[in-house]
Amino acid sequence: MKLLVIGGGGREHAIIRKLRESPKADEIYCAPGNGGISKDAVCVDIPVTDIDDIVAFSKEKQIDLVFVAPDDPLAAGMVDALEAAGIAAFGPRANAAVIESSKVFSKDLMKQYHIPTAGYAVFDDSHNALEYVKANNQYPIVIKADGLALGKGVIIAADFAEAQDAVRTIMEDKIFGASGNQIVVEEFITGPEVSVLAFTDGKCVKPMVSSKDHKRALDHDKGPNTGGMGTISPNPYYTDDIAEICMNTIFLPTIHAMNQEGRVFKGCLYFGLMLTKDGPKVIEYNSRFGDPETQVVLPRLKTDLIDILLAVVEERLKEQPIEWSSEACACVVMASGGYPGKYEKGIEITGLKEDGQVGGATVYHAGTTCKQNRYYTNGGRVLGVTALGETLEEALGKAYAAVEQIHFHGAHYRCDIGKIN
Ligand code: AMP
Ligand code: GLY
Repeated sequence: MKLLVIGGGGREHAIIRKLRESPKADEIYCAPGNGGISKDAVCVDIPVTDIDDIVAFSKEKQIDLVFVAPDDPLAAGMVDALEAAGIAAFGPRANAAVIESSKVFSKDLMKQYHIPTAGYAVFDDSHNALEYVKANNQYPIVIKADGLALGKGVIIAADFAEAQDAVRTIMEDKIFGASGNQIVVEEFITGPEVSVLAFTDGKCVKPMVSSKDHKRALDHDKGPNTGGMGTISPNPYYTDDIAEICMNTIFLPTIHAMNQEGRVFKGCLYFGLMLTKDGPKVIEYNSRFGDPETQVVLPRLKTDLIDILLAVVEERLKEQPIEWSSEACACVVMASGGYPGKYEKGIEITGLKEDGQVGGATVYHAGTTCKQNRYYTNGGRVLGVTALGETLEEALGKAYAAVEQIHFHGAHYRCDIGKIN
C-alpha cells in the first residue's frame, strides 16, 4: 500500500514508525514531515492546510490511504475532499471534527445528551460574559475560546481581574481571531486528568490504552500551559472500574449523540477526562490523536495499525481485534528555550546518530530539520524521547537516560514526567 500521513510533529513520527512495522506498507509519504521523519518516510513540502495540493498529490501518486492527523485540516474538510476524489482517508469529516473545533458545539452536545462535563454558559458578547462572571462570583473560573487556538484558548482565571483580562483579549482584541467570537465560561473542576484515545467507525468504539499528559511547562505543574511536555501510558489513575464507567457514561453516549446529530464520527476520538469526586467528566474532545499521547500509546499497539485504520474507514471495526502490550511507555519532550513563548530556531542538536536516534530509546522528532545528517531545532517542541519498560519506572529510566545524551542550546524538559503528585 501507498500511504500519506498529513502533519509534521512527534505524533506523526510515531504514527509513521508504527505504519512502517506493517508488511502492507510499501511506500510512506508525509506532508510536510520534519528532519527525523525524513529518515522513515518521503517528506513532501505541502502545508497541512493545503487541501487542493494534498488531493492532487494523492491522485498523482495513487495513494491508497491518507491519514489526516492534525486538527486544522480535519476541521477544514480535508477528509471530505479526499473522499470526494475517491481517495480513502482516516479521520472525521468536517461535520464531525466540529466536536473539537467548536467548544460551544461540544458543550451543547454533552448537555443535550447528559454526558458528564463541567457546568457552563456561552456568550457572544464580552459585556454579558463579564456580568455573568461577576454575578457567579466563584473563582477560579475557566474561560475558553470557542474555536481552535493552538491549545492556548483555555484560561483559568483566579479572580475577576484575570477573567476580565481573558474575556477582553479573546473577544475584543481577538488574539485567536474568529475562534474568539464566542466563549464558554466554565465551572472549575478538579481531579486527576486522563487522556483516552479511541478508534471508532461510528458503529462501535474501541478505546486504546490510557495515558497521562503533562501540560504545564515546568516541574510540579508550574508555568504556562503547553501542547504537552511529556506523557506516560498507562495512566495509573485509570482503573478497570473507571474505564467501565467511562465506556457507559461517556464513550458510547458520545458516539450515539454524534450519530443522532447526523455527524457520524469516524477516526480517532480523543477524550480528555477529569476524574472528579462526582465521577469522570469530559474536559474536552479532540477529533484526532493527541500529541504527545500518541508517542506513548502507539508503541504499545501489537496489532497491525493499517488493519485497524482500514477497519475504521470500511466501518467494520467491530470484527477487528486490537491487542496491546502490557508494557509501560514514557515520553519526555525536549523543548526549545522559551517555549511556549518566543524561541529561536536553527540551533544544532548534538548526540543524535545519523538516523536521528540514540541508543536505548526511540526519538520521535517534533520540530527538527536535517541537513547533511546534522539536526537543527525547528519548533517549540523539538524531540519526544520515548521508551518502553516492564514497569513505568523502567520506561522513565530509559527515556531520561537517553535525554541525557542529547543536547542543544537552551533545551528544557521536565524532570518529573510520570511522578504522581
Ligand atoms: P483543554 O485545552 O480544554 O484541554 O484545557 C487545558 C487544560 O485546562 C486542561 O487540561 C485542564 O487542566 C484545564 N481545564 C480545562 N477546563 C477545566 C475546568 N472546567 N476545570 C478545571 N480545569 C480545566
Ligand atoms: N496533548 C493534548 C492534545 O493533543 O491536544
